[in-house]
Amino acid sequence: AAAVEHQAEGAAISLGVVESNHAGYTGGGFVNYDNASGSSVEFTVTAQAGPATLALRYANGTTTNRPMTISVNGTAQASGVAFAGTGAWSTWRTATVPVTLAAGVNRVRATATTAAGGPNLDRLDV
Ligand code: GCU
Ligand code: CA
Ligand code: CA
Repeated sequence: AAAVEHQAEGAAISLGVVESNHAGYTGGGFVNYDNASGSSVEFTVTAQAGPATLALRYANGTTTNRPMTISVNGTAQASGVAFAGTGAWSTWRTATVPVTLAAGVNRVRATATTAAGGPNLDRLDV
């Protein structure tokens, strides 16, 4: 089936703000994670039970990786997922993460694990 798009600016944000000052985002903007470890965005994803690929569209205008942990329903399923520099804050790339989803509603959270915080996050496709 076609991927379902979940805009970051419509998700639950902890330590971050919705902005639109860098071109190339989709929807109404993107989430600018606070530059702090523990900043996060949580998406509500409805799925069938089983393996799925998360595609996180992001920009990182620095030359330093901004790794994040991806959790599903409170359990970390991937740690140290790389969000490497994209060359500019207006250059967007996609990081893919294989996970296992539960039937029904899933809470998919991307949490920054370094003091730099996360990248700018546009969207999650599942
Ligand atoms: C700049 C940029 C922000 C980004 C921030 C960061 O301020 O304009 O969009 O989030 O750097 O380093 O995280
Ligand atoms: Ca930021
Ligand atoms: Ca967006």
